[in-house]
Amino acid sequence: MKRLIILLILLAIVSGIAWFFKPKITPYYAQLTKPHVGLAANLQPPSQKDATYVGSQKCRECHKEQYHDWKHSMHSKMIQDIRKDPNVVVADFSKLPDDADFTLKDAVYTIGSKFKQRYMIPAKINGKEDYRLGNYQWNSETKKWQHFKPWKYWYHDAYPHDNHQFPTSNTCDGCHFTGYMATGKRYEPAIACENCHGPGSNHAKEPKNPVYKASLSDPIRTNEVCLQCHMRNRDNRLKKNPDIKALWMDAKDYPDGYQPGKPLIDYKLAAPFVLGKETKEFWANGAAKKNRTQGNEYVRDAMYRHGITCINCHDPHKLTNTAQKSEGNAACMKCHSFGSIIGPHQTSLSAHTHHKADSKGSLCIECHMPKTGRHTGKSPLTVRSHMFAFTSPAETKAWKMPPETNACYACHKDRGLDQLQKDLESWGMVAWRNQEVLSHALLNKNQKEEKEFSSSLQKKSLNHPYISHTLFRRKSQIFKIIFFFN
Ligand code: HEC
Ligand code: HEC
Ligand code: HEC
Ligand code: HEC
Ligand code: HEC
Ligand code: HEC
Ligand code: HEC
Ligand code: HEC
Repeated sequence: MKRLIILLILLAIVSGIAWFFKPKITPYYAQLTKPHVGLAANLQPPSQKDATYVGSQKCRECHKEQYHDWKHSMHSKMIQDIRKDPNVVVADFSKLPDDADFTLKDAVYTIGSKFKQRYMIPAKINGKEDYRLGNYQWNSETKKWQHFKPWKYWYHDAYPHDNHQFPTSNTCDGCHFTGYMATGKRYEPAIACENCHGPGSNHAKEPKNPVYKASLSDPIRTNEVCLQCHMRNRDNRLKKNPDIKALWMDAKDYPDGYQPGKPLIDYKLAAPFVLGKETKEFWANGAAKKNRTQGNEYVRDAMYRHGITCINCHDPHKLTNTAQKSEGNAACMKCHSFGSIIGPHQTSLSAHTHHKADSKGSLCIECHMPKTGRHTGKSPLTVRSHMFAFTSPAETKAWKMPPETNACYACHKDRGLDQLQKDLESWGMVAWRNQEVLSHALLNKNQKEEKEFSSSLQKKSLNHPYISHTLFRRKSQIFKIIFFFN
């Protein structure tokens, strides 16, 4: 009897210890190991196929909590009606420059507010009632008016170089209004319920008819409801005919026709990127130069490949975690723990960061989500990268990126990249990818070799000792994604 009690006590202690040291990632195991259905599968519930858009007010009748969370998020404030509420204008119109081609009275909708605000003005373009964009935008970060020439972007050869002939329908509204992407009709301003759940008429009539819920499918596909907008694209038709002039006055900057649940891959052509080649949108290592590149960056990250989704970090209705409502290190530590299988591999915060635990230099996002991008050419560096793998000072230098985009340099301008690299090496924190990435960058290979290198690097990163012993790998699927999005 005594022996049995001792045995039971020992057992309790052992399981207690095991429980205590259980990796925090364990609760996510079911999500991470969900079967992959492939990128081509149509996941839209059959009852949604003939449904129409009913608007968020209808959903509110039965889903007050989600409505409340969403209403307080930025998604509901993307497009705002100036006539309904003049307070939505954040710009100082008394300082609008004289050569502006619009006044406040002309504008019907505001676009954005947090970083910049642009103005939609009714216009007949291409024989269709449409909207055009004012030739000035308000920069909320610098509190100044600045020129706005949207046709300078990739559709340079697809539209006349004149804001009066540049329709928001093809170039903006798919991502800023509800239902426009799928139907070409503006059902509701801003990003509402049905942009992520699909049309809800059948569900609202009879709740047993489901709408699409992204988290029910495999995690790779869960991301698609966010990637439809949070990703830089080209017109999907360029896959067949790369001549942009064939799309004169018709080029679209969003996955035209997509509805949540349908395979996004059929509608989307991601903005091109090859490792080592800087573009208008990406630095040579793939990090964001502009806003709205979260998806382009994230699909190349180990966390994406291993089944972590946008909604593991962002509540889909509240949108937290955001800079305004930061959850700090807790946001990362709900999965990561020190000395755990998924890292960090050191035993404490300060052993990992080499900064005091309460220092700004011990905040995960400061090193793993450095500010690499700008909202406009004249904006400060505020766009945080969604490429979570650490970029060392030596990499920043080799990729010819501005030093300010490096995490260490952003806080230590006095030390310089070379010294910071030495600091890092003295801590024993040399990036495992570093040596290869650097020797490659310095050799300056041609494009074909770069492509091969890029994919071999991706393969290596999957075999990286920290990553390879996790159980969450789905190789074949991962490679399809990498090749597609690259
Ligand atoms: C008449 C009330 C009603 C209306 C209107 C309504 N819903 Fe629902 N909704 C429900 C009920 C009840 C359920 C639970 C159904 C079940 O479990 O079978 C549900 C379930 C859901 C779910 C799935 C929840 C889960 O965990 O699987 C989503 C997503 C959803 N609704 C979104 C919407 C959206 C978006 C709208 C507006 C287009 C909407 N609903 C309008 C009653 C409604
Ligand atoms: C940006 C995309 C997005 C928008 C906008 C959005 N949802 Fe959701 N919603 C989701 C995702 C993704 C989930 C799954 C969350 C999960 O499983 O953790 C979800 C889950 C739900 C659920 C299931 C219960 C829950 O909270 O998990 C309901 C009900 C729902 N949404 C209703 C709505 C309604 C009503 C609106 C509009 C007021 C709305 N959603 C707007 C993406 C969105
Ligand atoms: C239909 C297009 C669209 C979809 C779908 C969409 N977003 Fe957004 N998202 C936007 C736009 C546009 C903004 C900018 C809103 C603003 O500043 O008013 C934004 C803003 C955000 C922000 C910043 C919020 C803030 O307070 O600064 C987060 C975080 C975000 N989205 C996450 C998501 C996630 C996660 C999903 C998928 C569940 C998603 N979005 C789906 C278009 C979209
Ligand atoms: C493919 C989808 C997509 C298209 C097309 C698109 N946007 Fe956006 N836009 C977004 C997303 C997503 C965000 C928020 C995320 C971010 O900024 O990183 C955003 C952010 C913005 C913001 C900043 C919001 C704020 O609160 O400061 C403005 C302004 C804006 N877009 C205007 C435009 C205009 C004007 C066009 C057309 C010329 C356009 N966008 C085309 C998806 C899109
Ligand atoms: C591992 C966690 C994580 C994942 C996964 C993640 N994000 Fe984020 N994201 C963050 C954090 C943390 C911030 C806020 C950083 C800050 O405090 O400035 C953020 C910020 C943002 C912002 C706000 C940008 C701004 O400047 O206001 C947008 C938009 C966004 N994320 C969209 C997405 C989308 C879309 C996905 C999926 C493709 C995604 N995120 C995946 C952690 C994550
Ligand atoms: C968000 C700002 C921030 C980031 C990012 C950051 N540091 Fe620091 N660093 C600090 C602060 C603040 C201190 C002061 C001591 C402390 O808080 O631990 C410091 C101290 C140091 C010191 C000691 C300097 C001295 O004079 O004693 C070194 C070396 C250092 N950091 C190197 C780095 C390297 C290398 C990186 C990139 C891996 C980095 N830091 C990233 C803020 C930062
Ligand atoms: C001062 C900068 C700094 C801060 C702050 C920081 N890290 Fe790191 N992290 C690094 C460096 C450097 C590496 C090593 C990169 C390499 O070898 O490629 C790394 C690697 C990692 C890895 C990969 C596995 C490993 O151990 O090498 C994970 C996971 C990680 N960090 C998570 C976190 C989390 C979670 C936080 C916040 C609690 C955090 N980091 C804070 C600099 C930092
Ligand atoms: C929902 C769980 C979850 C959350 C939340 C999460 N991570 Fe991760 N993270 C993972 C998993 C799983 C891996 C893959 C580990 C592996 O393959 O060994 C990973 C890998 C990483 C890596 C390694 C390499 C790479 O390229 O990404 C870094 C760095 C990292 N996470 C940083 C962060 C930071 C910073 C945050 C907070 C903003 C965060 N993680 C939040 C689950 C999570």
